[in-house]
Amino acid sequence: MMERIHITDVAPRDGLQNQAVPVSTAQKLALVERLAAAGVESVEITSFVSPKAVPQMADAGDLLPQVQSRLPDLRSSVLVPNRKGLERAHAAGAREIAVVLSATETMNRKNINMGLDEATDVSEQTLQAARQLGLRTRAYVAVAFDCPFEGETPLDRVFGLAQRMVKAGAHEIVIADTIGSASPGMVKERLNALTQAIAVDRLAVHFHDTRGMGAANAWAALEAGIRRFDASVGGIGGCPFAPGAAGNVATEDLVLLAERSGFYTGISLPGLLDAIDLAQEVLQRPLGGRSITWLRKQQERDLL
Ligand code: COA
Ligand code: ZN
Repeated sequence: MMERIHITDVAPRDGLQNQAVPVSTAQKLALVERLAAAGVESVEITSFVSPKAVPQMADAGDLLPQVQSRLPDLRSSVLVPNRKGLERAHAAGAREIAVVLSATETMNRKNINMGLDEATDVSEQTLQAARQLGLRTRAYVAVAFDCPFEGETPLDRVFGLAQRMVKAGAHEIVIADTIGSASPGMVKERLNALTQAIAVDRLAVHFHDTRGMGAANAWAALEAGIRRFDASVGGIGGCPFAPGAAGNVATEDLVLLAERSGFYTGISLPGLLDAIDLAQEVLQRPLGGRSITWLRKQQERDLL
């Protein structure tokens, strides 16, 4: 039997949050529906953040109940930066939330206007409160490789924060290369250290493809035993508060890599191409990861 890897598509949140074109709630719902139709089991659909900070996510409270009623079997998670975000998410019926803790002082300040200590406390409190509400929880450790403001992030800091998030009850710790600066050697080193202390099925990775190393980094993570990945269909994305960050590693690249290497994802490549078609119409520009040209050719010849 092929080993399974689990992919969370973060395009509707990480992908759309930074787009100049306003995307309607109906268009977001349609994108999530295409992802689910392609077999994606888990989607990060939106964030309950300040609409002043991220106007594109202002409709979170409308979108979430619509997604959950249309797609009851989909794991739909939402990002929350603080207790207010959790309250809003809970009121909208959220079943899964993600907190976002950056591993450096400056990145937390730029992203959520808190220092590292406060952001750590707030993340712990939010996770504990979410657990009490019976929600599934993820905790991002952002800038876990390099910070756009402070340079290389010390590994012992990442290690300590990840363990605190485990103790606070996070079901899943997401080690994030927010600006896409990691390379496979660093990924291997950091994940080998983390898997000494944290069960491998509680760890996930979140790569951006800024330097074209997203797939290589995913392979390094697979070799370190990681089986949970974030990715974004069409490679859409980039954090508005982290200068230089390009989109996430593309879901289609990750699916291709995994399936060609003997893993099972449950995701259909033609289904992902349908989702990319829709995202292109909405964002009015060509999208796709490194494999898109080859995938389109295969599709034309009916070989996918
Ligand atoms: N959702 C909606 N509104 C929120 C909120 C949330 N989760 N948290 C705070 N607010 C509101 C407050 O009610 C207050 O509103 P008011 O001006 O009408 O009174 C306003 O935002 C300021 O509140 P404050 O607690 O002082 O927040 P802040 O200005 O220090 O901003 C965050 C902190 C976390 C709310 C803001 O930085 C943020 O939303 N960041 C998200 C960044 C992000 O999404 N990054 C990308 C993903 S990693
Ligand atoms: Zn990201």
